[in-house]
Amino acid sequence: MHVIPGKEETIAVYPGTFDPITNGHVDIIKRALRLFDKVVIAIAINSRKNPLFTIEERIDLARNCFGTNNTRVEVDSTSGLIVDYAMEKKACAIVRGLRAVSDFDYEFQLALMNRKLERKVETVFLMTGFRWIYISSSIIKDAAKHGGDIGGTVPAHVQAALKEKYNN
Ligand code: COA
Repeated sequence: MHVIPGKEETIAVYPGTFDPITNGHVDIIKRALRLFDKVVIAIAINSRKNPLFTIEERIDLARNCFGTNNTRVEVDSTSGLIVDYAMEKKACAIVRGLRAVSDFDYEFQLALMNRKLERKVETVFLMTGFRWIYISSSIIKDAAKHGGDIGGTVPAHVQAALKEKYNN
């Protein structure tokens, strides 16, 4: 992407638990990079979930998807309100992926609450590639835990990390 001199860099925050990052997430990030100059992957610390991977592990797994020298993708963690984090990062948008209609209700609520909290930050929904419509971090973890073949649903280094966690 060409950054036009004098034009402000467009930054989007992509928040989530990323426990772990999947090919579906990577797909959304690649799509977001076509629209924004920079994408900040914001890994939530105080998610309502009980993550398998520590925050440091989730950060490393996400970083390794894009290479440490990639200046257009930043990986960070956050524990507060996502809109506050987006303002701090000078982001104009929060990116969320939609896989199916079932995602819509929750995402709609989240986007409207975020808009109520901070009107300067827009939520942008991107459609997940068709290949990734059925996957989620939980379903992949469940398959991995029982020794199932999860090849192709997560990057190779994530597959190896899951294997190590479940020791199979
Ligand atoms: N490919 C694969 N999986 C995808 C996906 C895609 N493109 N898009 C979503 N998912 C899956 C995730 O893997 C995850 O699966 P899991 O439930 O099995 O772990 C699920 O969809 C949704 O998770 P995620 O996108 O990580 O969202 P979340 O609900 O875990 O996290 C936060 C939501 C962290 C973004 C939200 O709670 C938040 O913003 N918290 C900060 C506090 C705040 O500001 N709250 C809002 C105002 S009150």
